[in-house]
Amino acid sequence: MRHLFEAGKNADKPTLVLFHGTGGTENDLIPLARLISPESSILSVRGNVLENGMPRFFRRLAEGVFDIEDLKFRTVELYDFLNNAADEYSLDRNNFVAIGYSNGANIAGSLLFHYKDAFKAAILHHPMVPIRSIALPDLSNVPIFIGAGKNDPICSASETEELEQLLSGAGASVNIHWEDYGHQLTRTEAQAAGEWFNQQYNS
Ligand code: MLT
Repeated sequence: MRHLFEAGKNADKPTLVLFHGTGGTENDLIPLARLISPESSILSVRGNVLENGMPRFFRRLAEGVFDIEDLKFRTVELYDFLNNAADEYSLDRNNFVAIGYSNGANIAGSLLFHYKDAFKAAILHHPMVPIRSIALPDLSNVPIFIGAGKNDPICSASETEELEQLLSGAGASVNIHWEDYGHQLTRTEAQAAGEWFNQQYNS
């Protein structure tokens, strides 16, 4: 898959795996990653699907209506990519932390829903429930930060709470940061994600 890799100054810090939003590229979340963990290596992936020229991580049938077969296929494809990238760049595969926004948060969520060892932690900005009616793996010891907007027209507050319940039900420790705004990723939300990350790994 098309991607960008930047070796960090400190190989012991988690590798940040970045997933952009619809229409984005692997460059979009680099400033966010540098804010969250300046010394980490970065593995940033570009979604393999194009919707009217806009990169995405899986197909959708309409706004908010996912093509579940494609979602499953792309989830496996990405999981394989991450395993291969760990070998290629000599990274500790058990030290990957996801950072995703919007469509990127949804594919990161799907990886968490399908594999117990996809990530050791995840920062999901404005995620939806990626897929329903599947049994989640054991996610105990997987801390998850969710950034959400009370007035997000794409992901409602009730869907955020549903996602939180599903992940918590699988054992994950979930922290939701609420903003009063919509789907945008605000500065204060990014800072809250950084503070959460520091509490997990630097305190
Ligand atoms: C999705 O399709 O993943 C969500 O609707 C978020 C987005 O607009 O990309």
